[in-house]
Amino acid sequence: QKITINNRVLNVPDNPVIPFIEGDGIGADIWAASVRVFDAAVEKAYNGQRKIEWKEVLAGQKAFDETGEWLPQATLDAIEEYLVAIKGPLTTPVGGGIRSLNVALRQKLDLYACVRPVRWFQGVPSPVKEPENVNMTIYRENTEDIYAGIEYLAGTPEAKKVVDFLINDMGATQIRFPETSSIGVKPVSSEGTQRLVRAAIDYALEQGSPTMTLVHKGNIMKFTEGAFLEWAVEEAKEILGSAFLSREEFMQGSHQQIPEGRVLIQDRIADAMFQDLLLKPKDHEVIVSPNLNGDYLSDASAALVGGLGLAPGANIGDGIVLFEAVHGTAPDIAGKDLANPSALILSASLMFDYLKLPHIGKRLHDAIARAIAENRVTGDLYSSTRAGERLTCSAFSDYLCSMIDD
Ligand code: NAI
Repeated sequence: QKITINNRVLNVPDNPVIPFIEGDGIGADIWAASVRVFDAAVEKAYNGQRKIEWKEVLAGQKAFDETGEWLPQATLDAIEEYLVAIKGPLTTPVGGGIRSLNVALRQKLDLYACVRPVRWFQGVPSPVKEPENVNMTIYRENTEDIYAGIEYLAGTPEAKKVVDFLINDMGATQIRFPETSSIGVKPVSSEGTQRLVRAAIDYALEQGSPTMTLVHKGNIMKFTEGAFLEWAVEEAKEILGSAFLSREEFMQGSHQQIPEGRVLIQDRIADAMFQDLLLKPKDHEVIVSPNLNGDYLSDASAALVGGLGLAPGANIGDGIVLFEAVHGTAPDIAGKDLANPSALILSASLMFDYLKLPHIGKRLHDAIARAIAENRVTGDLYSSTRAGERLTCSAFSDYLCSMIDD
């Protein structure tokens, strides 16, 4: 049975087909460990009345070995058809014309928002004193900016042509070393910015989050990052109407707190935002940013709460969502039954919440929280200074299944 969408409302049948990409490297270890936990949680929550039909689709090394293509069209078609999918990590092919399969997936499916919730689990070592104050969700633009891949290598005729155009036709005088410069182009559009802001505001309103921070480098790049800020504020004003609260209004008022029903839209220059991540994480709940800043912010904030092994993510388009673990293929531990499947399981927890099946999502989240609190975890999270047990990937999965069955 297919998940369908009508007027932005999802219809989820009892036995929905959900495509999955197993992923490369540790992908096979963590998928095998995770899918058992997903099925146990669905069974427990719905007593057999619901069951997910997992449908494997190929991408990455496995796809290349079986079909000769890194990202077969059939995979893109299946994700478009079934609307919701989940993936493990993919290796970056060396040569072959694809820079990154993840970037290709996002661009081909027009998955324009990369969403990363960042929350701390009790018991996870953190480099900050009060990791419990970190509770934010990052909305990173996924299809534009310097990531669009329009680049010309220094010394090539293409780079020379672009440099000549900029100097001769556009009057640019700022290219310090024209002969030896590579050139990259940074497209940032009002449409791309505004659809990202719409998705983030929908989320903020659904979660009841009263603050949103727009992160940009508009003090320097005025017509790309600066325009991002302007367009984002315009869109937020239009959507929120009288619920829109600017920083100025908030500061002028005598409010200690944001008034009920209003959303504070603030902005931070990217470098200052990195300070805030460390010093004032409580000030930020929903963070909205262009692609490159968002990339840095996502990993830096994941580090605050224990690193990539626990970081889930989702790539959101209009009606299509691809959930994913944020980490890579971890070739150093692939096939050794050592990997931590938590990021994939937490991505599935987000997926079930998105499908409005929160009983499943919560079970997955709580099982992981309990295993971490008990220090019965894989090697990357295990602390030798506390009681507990260091588990293999498959033993960790057994343990999570047993807790879900409790
Ligand atoms: P990585 O995330 O694969 O590994 C970084 C370190 O974290 C390694 O020491 C690894 O053992 C550890 N690690 C990562 N995930 C873990 C897990 N679940 N459990 C335990 N330890 C874990 O990043 P790296 O080494 O930069 O990239 C390796 C490959 O993965 C490259 O081909 C890269 O392009 C690809 N990659 C794919 C991503 C994706 O598909 N979303 C994201 C990042 C990298």
